[in-house]
Amino acid sequence: METTHRVVVGDARELSAVDDDSVELVVTSPPYPMIEMWDDLFTTLDPAIGTALEDGDGRAAFEAMHAQLEAVWDELERVLVDGGIACINVGDATRTLDDSFRVYPNHARVLEAFEARGFDPLPDVLWRKPANSAAKFMGSGMIPPNAYVTLEHEYVLLFRNGGESRSFEPGADRRYEAAYFWEERNRWFTDVWTDVRGELQALEDDHEELRERSAAYPLEIPYRLCCMYSTYGDTVLDPFWGTGTTSLAALCAGRNSIGYELEDAFREVFADRIEDAPELSRTIGRRRLERHREFVAQRRREGEELSYEAVHYDTPVMTKMEREIRFREVGGLEPLEGGEGYRAVHEPLVLE
Ligand SMILES: C[S@@+](CC[C@H](N)C(=O)[O-])C[C@H]1O[C@@H](n2cnc3c(N)ncnc32)[C@H](O)[C@@H]1O
Repeated sequence: METTHRVVVGDARELSAVDDDSVELVVTSPPYPMIEMWDDLFTTLDPAIGTALEDGDGRAAFEAMHAQLEAVWDELERVLVDGGIACINVGDATRTLDDSFRVYPNHARVLEAFEARGFDPLPDVLWRKPANSAAKFMGSGMIPPNAYVTLEHEYVLLFRNGGESRSFEPGADRRYEAAYFWEERNRWFTDVWTDVRGELQALEDDHEELRERSAAYPLEIPYRLCCMYSTYGDTVLDPFWGTGTTSLAALCAGRNSIGYELEDAFREVFADRIEDAPELSRTIGRRRLERHREFVAQRRREGEELSYEAVHYDTPVMTKMEREIRFREVGGLEPLEGGEGYRAVHEPLVLE
């Protein structure tokens, strides 16, 4: 199996390199309105934003920033197939302007915008983003009533494009091979993720500083979302690509990807990251299997046997739907003609 991973340096308010109805999944994290690190970028997109901020008019700035994101949401509606899913990772912002502190509820504003475009909202996910600073309550004091809660969660808002789910021909192999384990389903389809800084994060420690500088999200998030909402061979789009975490996740998960990014410099960062993809994809597949085997051992200790045998791996599984599970590892990578991305060859993951 082959996949391609295209990167377009350009403005996602016009996804001209992406055809109508050509993407099955969107996984992205926009610049968050009213978070200071993005003020300059939003002001470049619309100079009126800078003026509103200078005037201390938070409401006007918030609205104008969301108007920039909405141009991208319009494009998503065009390029996503019917029944395709959009996963939008976003956090709210707290800010003091003109001596007045408040929260700017980005998640509510994005939800409204998608609904207005005909997307159906699906139950969303909250993930906990631990603030690593012991000083997180600094300045809030111990005397009521004027202290504020510290925000430590972000949202993955989920939307389906149109009223109906995607349909597949009966028995489509690529769907069954892309199945996830029963216990993964239980963890992933829970509405509060407390473990995203766990497993895959350890593999990414080298990139810690970079992640903070570029507001990159943990690989675990787009990886899970690719596994949950797309199948082998699908195409995943990230219109706010940054350092390409979504493409790396899509690659490890055996999906195609397309990224749009304003900053050319991030392509070099990605060129570095993608070198790890063969090893990373193998490690991820092995860990999922190891973890599954631990789950099987635990059930056995509790006196329960799983009812089915996996076809491609030497392990029992809980349900018939999991029998065909087959992980892929990245076997080879080469640049696409024109240097606008990569082509990857995927091999079934075989355990020795
Ligand atoms: C929150 S960061 C995304 C980080 C990414 N998820 C990662 O893991 O590296 C948002 C990115 O969107 C880019 N961006 C903002 N507005 C854009 C636009 N209109 N078109 C394309 N890229 C845009 C910014 O340059 C920034 O890199």
